[in-house]
Amino acid sequence: MLNGERKTPQPLRWAMVGGGRLGQVGYKHRCGALRDNTAFALVAGAFDIVPERGREFGVNLGVDADRCYDDYRTLFAQEARREDGIEVVSVATPNGTHYQITRAALLAGLHVICEKPLFFTSREAYEIKALAAEKNRIVGVTYGFSGHPLLLQMRAMVANGQIGEVRMVDLQYTHGFNATDEVDRLSDAQKWRIDPQISGPSFVLGDISTHTYYLSQLVMPQMQISELLCDRQSFIPSRAPLEDNALVMMRYANGAVGRMWASSVNAGAMSSQRIRIVGSKASLEWTDINPSELSYQVQGQPNQTLYRGMPYLDETCNAWERLGALHTEGLTESWANIYLKFALAIDACNRGDRQALDQLVYPDIDAGIDGVRWIENCVRSADQGARWVAFE
Ligand code: NAI
Repeated sequence: MLNGERKTPQPLRWAMVGGGRLGQVGYKHRCGALRDNTAFALVAGAFDIVPERGREFGVNLGVDADRCYDDYRTLFAQEARREDGIEVVSVATPNGTHYQITRAALLAGLHVICEKPLFFTSREAYEIKALAAEKNRIVGVTYGFSGHPLLLQMRAMVANGQIGEVRMVDLQYTHGFNATDEVDRLSDAQKWRIDPQISGPSFVLGDISTHTYYLSQLVMPQMQISELLCDRQSFIPSRAPLEDNALVMMRYANGAVGRMWASSVNAGAMSSQRIRIVGSKASLEWTDINPSELSYQVQGQPNQTLYRGMPYLDETCNAWERLGALHTEGLTESWANIYLKFALAIDACNRGDRQALDQLVYPDIDAGIDGVRWIENCVRSADQGARWVAFE
C-alpha cells in the first residue's frame, strides 16, 4: 500500500511541454506527478503554443517566471545551463509534435514522459528507442488508465491460470462526444485530431484504442497478435480520411481471437473502456467507469465481484493501493501510480540498476512502440479494404 512516503532520493526536477491552460490532458499529468509531493517537483515549462499565456499559466502553477519559457528548445537549452536544471520532461502536446520534442529532450540528456500515440511511425519509435538507450534515459508513455490496481489483479489471475487458456479478448473504448460535427467547429483540440498532418494516420485508433490495446498487453503480456482485420469509417464525412469509428478483429498466436471497437460516435455512451478476457474455465471483466470492481465469472458458479483494496487480492495489485477498500479511487490515483512508476524507472536508470528496471511493469518505450505498430497495422488493413493482414 502506498502512503506518499518518498521512494526515490529526492523529487525529480520536472518540466512540461504543453499541457497549458486550455489543454485537455495537462492537469492529469500534474495530478499524477505531484500527487505525493515526493516523486516530482514542477520547476519549469513551455506550457503553451502561445508563450505569454504559457508564462502566465506557469506562474499561476507556482513555477518561477524566469523558468517559464517561450518554447521547448529554449526550455531545454536554458535549463541545461543551470546546476539545478530539469531532469525529466513531460510532453503533453498534439501528436504531430511528440517525435521532435522527445528527440530534442533526449539529445539534451533528459528523461522523457510522452503522450500517446507516441509517434506517427514505428520507424521513428525505434529510432527514439535507440537514442534513449544511447543516452541512458527512459521514455515513458502516459497510458493513464494503466495505473488502476485491479488491472494487475487481472494480470496475476490470467498468469496463474484462474481463467484457464485465453480464448477470446473483447476490447472497447467508445464515447459519443463526436456524434455530430459541431465539436469539430468549436473545439481546437478536436480540430487537430481530425487533421492527418497533426493527428497522424488515424483518429480514434490512435486517440483512444491505443489505451485499451495497452491494457490488454498489460493484462496478458504473453499474448501476441498474429493477424488482424480493421474496418474504419468516418460517419462525419468531413473527418475523412481519418476515422471516427473502427472495428478490429484479431487472431492471436495461441489460437485465441479478439475484437476491438473504437468509436467517438457511440451516441449517448457514458462508459468508455471495457476489457473482457474469456478463458476456457472463466472470464474476467473490468471497466474504467467502475475501476474498483473486477468481475470474475467462473463457468457453472455464481459470479463474483472482487473489490479494490481487499486482502484477498494479489500482492502485486495491492502494492499500488492508496486509499484502502471502500474509499473511492479513480483516474487521479491511476495517473499517480504510473507517474510513481516513471520516477522509479528514472531512479533505477540513473543508478544503473538494470534488474530493478527490468522488473518494473510500466508503460515504457516498448509499450509506446507497440501502440504505434497497432495503429500502423490497423490502418494498413483498413486501407486495403478491411483485409486480414499479418501483424508486423
Ligand atoms: P490540447 O489541444 O487540448 O492541448 C495541447 C496543449 O499543448 C495546449 O496547451 C497547447 O497550447 C500546447 N501546445 C501545442 N503545441 C505546443 C508546442 N509546440 N509547445 C508548447 N506547447 C504546445 O490537446 P490534448 O487533448 O491535451 O492532447 C495532447 C496530447 O495528449 C495528445 O497527444 C493526445 O493524444 C494526448 N491525450 C492523452 C490523454 C491520456 O489519457 N493519456 C487524454 C487526452 C489527450
